[in-house]
Amino acid sequence: MTERTSLRHLPHSDLFRQGDVFVLFGELFGRGYANGLIDEARKAGMTIVGITVGRRDDDGRLRELSAEEHAEAETKLGGRIINVPMMAGFDLDAPEGEQNPTELLAGLTLKNWQEEQLDWDKVEACRQVGVQRFTASAAIVMNEIDKLVPDGANVFFAHTMAGGIPRVKAFLAIANRIYKGAGERFMSSRALLDSDLGKLILMNFDEVTANTLHHLIHASTAIRERAERTGGQVRYTAYGYHGTEILIDGQYQWQTYTNYTQGYAKMRLESVAEAAWAKGISATVYNCPEIRTNSSDLFVGVELSLFPLLKALKKEGGGAWAQQQWDICQSLLEDGVSLDSLLERIEAYNNDATSASFRNFEAWPMDNTPALAEVMINTSHDMTKLHKERKELITDHLSSLVLEGTGPLMFHATAEKIAAVVWLNHDIIARQLNAIHAQ
Ligand SMILES: NC(=O)c1ccc[n+]([C@@H]2O[C@H](COP(=O)([O-])OP(=O)(O)OC[C@H]3O[C@@H](n4cnc5c(N)ncnc54)[C@H](O)[C@@H]3O)[C@@H](O)[C@H]2O)c1
Repeated sequence: MTERTSLRHLPHSDLFRQGDVFVLFGELFGRGYANGLIDEARKAGMTIVGITVGRRDDDGRLRELSAEEHAEAETKLGGRIINVPMMAGFDLDAPEGEQNPTELLAGLTLKNWQEEQLDWDKVEACRQVGVQRFTASAAIVMNEIDKLVPDGANVFFAHTMAGGIPRVKAFLAIANRIYKGAGERFMSSRALLDSDLGKLILMNFDEVTANTLHHLIHASTAIRERAERTGGQVRYTAYGYHGTEILIDGQYQWQTYTNYTQGYAKMRLESVAEAAWAKGISATVYNCPEIRTNSSDLFVGVELSLFPLLKALKKEGGGAWAQQQWDICQSLLEDGVSLDSLLERIEAYNNDATSASFRNFEAWPMDNTPALAEVMINTSHDMTKLHKERKELITDHLSSLVLEGTGPLMFHATAEKIAAVVWLNHDIIARQLNAIHAQ
C-alpha cells in the first residue's frame, strides 16, 4: 500500500442504537484502545458482548476463566463474556506427543540464538494445530453470540487482538536489547528477523494480529447474513498501526516508531480488511497513533510522538479545555522545567537527521540502527527524567486523550463505511477532542 486514506472530517453518522450488539474480539485492559470504542457503544445503549483469550495453567494447558475471573471480566466489560478460550497463536501448540515451538526454542541462549535452526515442518504442524484450535473455538463462540443478536439488529465487531511474543527466556533478553538497548546494549532488529527465531516470531504475529480478523469475519458469516437478511447492518473494525501524522515544524508529517517488528503483521491485517471490503463486507482497519498501553510499554521511545498532540490541540481550535491539558502536563514536570522547553526538545529530536531519515513510508517497517537507538532511547529517558514521578507521565495523560478521541471517530466513521484502511492522525484526534470538550 502506498496511498493513505486519512480521516479528515468529524463523522456523525448514527447507525448503532439500543438493541444493537457490540462484540469485542479481544480482552479489555485498563489503558487499552478498546476502551474508547466501548464507551461509545455504552453511550449508544448497545448490548455489549466479549470473549476471553483464556488462561494458562502452570503446566501450560489453556483453560477457560474460573467463575471468579469470569465475573470480574464481565463487570469490567459491562457485558456478557463467552467463556471459551480464544488465545491465538501457536507458540504453545503441537500435535499430540510433539514439542511445541516454545519447547523447540528452549535451548536458545544469548550466545547461540542467531545460529539455532528450526525444523520448519514441525513448526508448520504446530501452526496448523493452533489455527485449528482457534477456529474451532471461534465457531463455538460465534454460535453463542448468534443467540444474543435479535433479528434486524446491527452488529459492530471490534477486533483488538495483537501480540504473539513467545515466552522463551532468551527472547525476553533479546527483546530488551532490541527495543530498549542503546550503545553497548544495542541489538539489531535485522539480526532478529534474519534468524529462525525471528521468522517464527513473525509467523506467530501474523496469526495473532492479522489472521484472527480473517477468522472473525469467517466465523461470523451466519450472524452477518442473518442480520443483513433481516434489515440489520454489520461492521468490523480492527486497530492497525502504520505510522501517524503528527505536528513537526508546524505541519502534520507522517512519522513512525522504529523498529516496529509487528509491522508486517499489521500490513497483513490491512490486506485482510481489503479482501473483505472487496467482497462487500465492511471491515476497516484504523491505523491509530502510538500510545502507552500494556502492549506498547516494551517499546521505549514509542511514546515520543505523543508530545506534539499538545500543539495539535491548540492548532485545531482548542480553547480553555486545550489550555487545561497544557496546564495538567506542565504540573507533571519537575519544578523549574517548562513544558515549552520539553516540546522544543521533541521538535529538535524530530528534526535530528537520524530520526528524520526514518520518515520513509515506502520503506516501512525499517530496521533499527545504533544511531537511531542512541537518539530515540536517550531522548525517551531524558523526557522521563523531567517528570516529578516516573509513574505519572505526560505521555500517560496524552495516551488517555488519544484513546478518548479515537472512540467516537471509529464508532461514527464505521457507520459511514469509508474505506478498508483509514489513518487517524493527530489532526483529527485533536479536533474530535476539542469538539467533545467544547460541549
Ligand atoms: N498502543 C499503541 O501504540 C497502538 C497503536 C496503534 C494500534 N494499536 C493496536 O491496538 C490494539 C489494542 O492494543 P493496545 O495497545 O490497546 O493494548 P492492549 O494490551 O489493551 O490490547 C491487546 C489486545 O490483544 C489481545 N491479545 C494479546 N495476545 C493475544 C493472543 N495471543 N491471542 C488473542 N488475543 C491476544 C488482548 O486480549 C487485548 O485485547 C492492538 O491491535 C494494537 O496493535 C496499538
